[in-house]
Amino acid sequence: MERIVILTGAGISAESGLGTFRDKGGLWTRYDLGDVATPEGFARDPTLVHDFYNARRANALDATPNAAHQALARLQAGWPGAVTLVTQNIDDLHERAGSRDVVHMHGEITRALCAACDHRWPAPRVMAPADPCPACGAPRARPDIVWFGEIPYHMERIANALWRADLFVSIGTSGEVYPAAGFVEEAKAAGAETLEINLEPSRVPGLFDRVIAGPASRAVPGWVADILP
Ligand code: OAD
Repeated sequence: MERIVILTGAGISAESGLGTFRDKGGLWTRYDLGDVATPEGFARDPTLVHDFYNARRANALDATPNAAHQALARLQAGWPGAVTLVTQNIDDLHERAGSRDVVHMHGEITRALCAACDHRWPAPRVMAPADPCPACGAPRARPDIVWFGEIPYHMERIANALWRADLFVSIGTSGEVYPAAGFVEEAKAAGAETLEINLEPSRVPGLFDRVIAGPASRAVPGWVADILP
């Protein structure tokens, strides 16, 4: 049975009210990425970084999944083959829509990580630099987010899934950030068909075999209805 690998980005959560990064008014047009999304920025000003992610966490917890998240959960439940759902998003809207085993390659806003001992635990709604690690006690708590200059999580599992994929689908991502931006080429090299679902085609023409243009909340349920047996 066909194996599907799906990669989602900020565009799938946009209609849930969570801002994207690079669109007009997006997060990286309002914040300096080097200040809030790098280990160096965190070392310089941990309070600024925690404030930034505390706001992201509050937005994410107050948001609700939209029809696109729900459609992917239906696909995972109903598809007779494997569906690997990889997300660059740090929100938990896929899980709250009912998806299981979501591969969070850029980490999760609901998790905390100790920069001293690597222990992980559920993040409180508001984190502060002096929060002690529940395992080692060091006051080095950070959000469990992959920052620029760090290696994304679960890369081996993702590479294996891409290698076996029959269909690769990219949803709501600009394709500006590697390694995720290179997944389409990896999947193609492995012989998969490729599909992009986005407000508008994000990449050079011809990179994807097929593009469905439109808001995720309409385009994703439409695609899922078309392919679910
Ligand atoms: P971007 O902000 O770069 O791109 C969002 C994409 O979603 C764009 O291609 C939009 O056209 C599309 N989009 C916007 N609204 C949409 C809608 N309603 N329906 C469908 N598509 C829509 O966000 P990402 O590609 O996710 O990493 O960004 C990748 C990474 O860059 C993020 O994971 C984050 C950021 O820096 C880290 O923080 C490590």
